[in-house]
Amino acid sequence: MYTQSFNVPDDAGDAKTARLKAVPGPVDAAEAALQAHFDTVIDADHKVEPRDWMPEAYRKTLVRQISQHAHSEIVGMLPEGNWISRAPSLKRKAILIAKVQDEGGHGLYLYSAAETLGTSRDQMLDGLHSGKAKYSSIFNYPTLNWADVGVIGWLVDGAAIMNQIPLCRCSYGPYARAMIRVCKEESFHQRQGYEALLVMMQGTAEQKAMVQDAVNRYWWKCLAMFGPPDADSPNSVQGMRWGIKRISNDDLRQKFVDATVPQAEVLGVTLPDPDLKWNEARGHYDYGQIDWDEFWATVNGNGPMNKERLATRVKAHEQGAWVRDAALAHARKQQQRQQKEAA
Ligand SMILES: [Fe+2]
Ligand SMILES: [Fe+2]
Repeated sequence: MYTQSFNVPDDAGDAKTARLKAVPGPVDAAEAALQAHFDTVIDADHKVEPRDWMPEAYRKTLVRQISQHAHSEIVGMLPEGNWISRAPSLKRKAILIAKVQDEGGHGLYLYSAAETLGTSRDQMLDGLHSGKAKYSSIFNYPTLNWADVGVIGWLVDGAAIMNQIPLCRCSYGPYARAMIRVCKEESFHQRQGYEALLVMMQGTAEQKAMVQDAVNRYWWKCLAMFGPPDADSPNSVQGMRWGIKRISNDDLRQKFVDATVPQAEVLGVTLPDPDLKWNEARGHYDYGQIDWDEFWATVNGNGPMNKERLATRVKAHEQGAWVRDAALAHARKQQQRQQKEAA
């Protein structure tokens, strides 16, 4: 799944203070004509395709956003993957395996979409493994009990859907098309999580307490997934101009809160925010302050699980080297055979 605004810069420094550099204008008449055509395509809400001319800053923004998104999908497999062997029934195990596999698939679509912009998968994975590239901060928290798996489906995948539905209309064709399938699968993820929690909430007092505990730990982190407030998101304006981002971080967050409160009521859990209440005048729920210092600390590598998640990814990549080598050797063999037959 997964997104957190994705307008957080990839750099080792303090991402909070990093700002998008001014987008350089065209250098000559030929480039000005290409830029004018690009602007027309964007203004008409048409799609930009891989072979079309695009401004360098647009390309770079997309590579950063799509690769961060891809990293979030595959790192997102880890907290839930830990529970496959401990799922409480065969049915839950089968559902969880399917979900975690889906997330791996989302990573593949997204790396492929980013590759169409001229960046190799090796480059992107190097960025992730070296700790330079960002991914959704939500996966740097531990999954302490079985209810966490349900809450991740309900709230984390739920937040991802909110964020990703507008991306189906993103101006870059391959990203938009990947998102259509991803969103359908996210919908299953959200429902399986919510259904697992509904069952637990009909169970023992201990099971209900587990659900409430998981909601308490994940609620605020899910609100932070939508990224910094609009006033602190300088990249968002350019993203909107380019048709990459359609709805602002704060508006998406509000939509998520408004959709989730009634679901929490049906479930019978309390969302851990004393300021959460319906505002008749606004027609929305008001909610309390998000701890942005904690968010930035986690984004910058100091969350409870950052080091472990990265170490697991690096280990998985190293241990998978023989698979990549075998696939390449097989491809070479096939190519040689085809050349022989053609000769
Ligand atoms: Fe998902
Ligand atoms: Fe996903």
